[in-house]
Amino acid sequence: MYIMTKISRRHFLAATGAMTGSALLSPLSGIKAETIGISTPIVKKTRIALIGTGSRGIFMWGRDLMREYSNYIEFVGLCDINEGRVETGKRMIGVSCPTYTDFEKMMKETKPEVLIVTTMDSTHHQFIIRGMELGANVITEKPMTIDEKKIQAILDAEERTGKHCRVTFNYRYSPHRAKIWELLRAGEIGDITSVDFHWYLDTSHGADYFRRWHRLVECSGSLWVHKASHHFDLLNWWIDSDPESVYALGELNFYGKNGTMRAKNCRTCPQTKQCPFFFDITKVKSHMDIYVANEKYDGYLRDGCVFRNDVNIFDKMAATIHYKNGVQVAYSLTTYSPYEGYRIAFNGTKGRLEAWIQESRKTSDVNYDEIVLFKNFSKREYIHIPFGTSGHGGGDALLKDQLFLPNVDDPYRQCANSRDGALACLVGIAARNSIATKQPVKIADLTSISPMEKKQYKRIL
Ligand SMILES: NC(=O)c1ccc[n+]([C@@H]2O[C@H](COP(=O)([O-])OP(=O)(O)OC[C@H]3O[C@@H](n4cnc5c(N)ncnc54)[C@H](O)[C@@H]3O)[C@@H](O)[C@H]2O)c1
Repeated sequence: MYIMTKISRRHFLAATGAMTGSALLSPLSGIKAETIGISTPIVKKTRIALIGTGSRGIFMWGRDLMREYSNYIEFVGLCDINEGRVETGKRMIGVSCPTYTDFEKMMKETKPEVLIVTTMDSTHHQFIIRGMELGANVITEKPMTIDEKKIQAILDAEERTGKHCRVTFNYRYSPHRAKIWELLRAGEIGDITSVDFHWYLDTSHGADYFRRWHRLVECSGSLWVHKASHHFDLLNWWIDSDPESVYALGELNFYGKNGTMRAKNCRTCPQTKQCPFFFDITKVKSHMDIYVANEKYDGYLRDGCVFRNDVNIFDKMAATIHYKNGVQVAYSLTTYSPYEGYRIAFNGTKGRLEAWIQESRKTSDVNYDEIVLFKNFSKREYIHIPFGTSGHGGGDALLKDQLFLPNVDDPYRQCANSRDGALACLVGIAARNSIATKQPVKIADLTSISPMEKKQYKRIL
C-alpha cells in the first residue's frame, strides 16, 4: 500500500507526470508509476549492487537511496575489500541484502541491473569494466578513472558489451551552475571567448585530501584528476566544446614534506597542541564507526598526518586549456586557502558573466548565490539563485532524482556519459603529463577520443 500523504513532493511530481521526458535507456524503464492515490503499482524495482562502502557509498548512494527511492530500487548486494566496513555499511544503510568481499561472486550471485561504483579512484576501472561484462549498467562516482590506459579500457568495454557507464557529476546539478549554463546557452554574453576559473580548497576540507588515500597519485590520480575533474567537467559542459590541449604547472609547497612537524596520524601525534591541522577523529562518530573500527582489517588511517613525507600530489596547480571551438581557459587550484569556493568569469563577444562563490560561508549570511551579468555598453544585472538544500549546492538530490525517478527530463543536459567522464579526467591527466614533460599535451594523443568543436549530447541511464 502506497499512502499519498507519505510521499515526497518530488515523488508526487514524478508519479503524476509533472516531470516530463524519458530516460532513453533507463534501468528504471520497467517502472510504471502513472497511478497514484491509495496504491501505486510499482511494477519492478531496479536491482542495484554497490561496491565501495566508504562514506560516499554509505551515505549518498546507500542510506539516502533507501530513504528516498526505495519504491523504485532495491539493493541486492554490497561489496568492499574491507570485511568489517562492508558490515558497517550494511548496518548504516539499513538493508538486509548479502555482503561480499569478492566482487565476482557478488555479481554472479546477485545479477544486478545496475552497479554503483564508489571505491577508491584507482580501482574504479576494474569494477566498471567487469560490471559491464557481467551484464550491468554502471553508475560510477567521479573521477571515472585516473589514467589514459584505464579510460581506453572502459570505452572499449562499453563498446564491446553494449552496456553503459554514467558518471555522477553532481556539480552540474546545482541550480546556480545550471543557471550559468542556461545564460551561456541563451547567448547572453555572445560567443564565449575565454574563461578565468580559480578554485580554492580551504585548510579544513582541502587539508583533508592530504590526510587520506587522495594524497597518493597512484590512488587518486592527484587532485588534477580526483578534484579538478569536477571543474573540468563543468568547463566542458559550460563551454559546450571539447578540450584540445593543456599546458600546466604544479608544485607541492605546503603539505607533505613542507611541514615542520609530522607523525603517522593525529591519534599518535605528540604535537597536537602546536599543530593547526590536528584532527580529532574520536569526536566524529561516523568516522569512528566507518574507519577506526575497521582499521584492523586494512590498516587504513582516516586521520593521517597532512605532513607525511609520502604525499606525492601537488597542492598548487595552474593550467592553460585550449578548446576545440577556440575558447581559452586560465584555471588554478589552491588547496590551503582560508576559505573554500571559487571565482569564475566568462568573457564573450557581447559581455562578461562572473560569479564568486564562498562555499564555507555561514548560510545565515545570505541565502542565495549570485551571478553578475555585464553586457557591453549596458547596465550590469545581478541574478540571485536560492541555495539548494541538499549536498553539493543542491546538486546531489537533483542528480539522484534524475537517476532513480521515472521520466525525469534533462533540460540542462546534465546527464554525463563515459565520454564526458573521460574528457574531464583527460584534462587532468594531460596537465600531469604536461608538468612532467614541460610541454603542452594534446588531448587527442591520449585515447581514441577526438575532440569535437560542439559537444554531442547522448542521454543514457
Ligand atoms: N561526487 C562527489 O562530490 C564525491 C564526494 C565524495 C567522494 N566521491 C567519490 O566517491 C568515491 C569514494 O569516496 P569516499 O570518500 O567514500 O572514500 P572512502 O575511502 O570513504 O571509501 C572508499 C571505499 O572503497 C573501498 N575500496 C578501496 N579499494 C577497493 C577495492 N579494490 N575493492 C573493493 N573496495 C575497495 C575502501 O575499503 C572504502 O570502503 C571516490 O571515487 C570519490 O572520488 C565523490
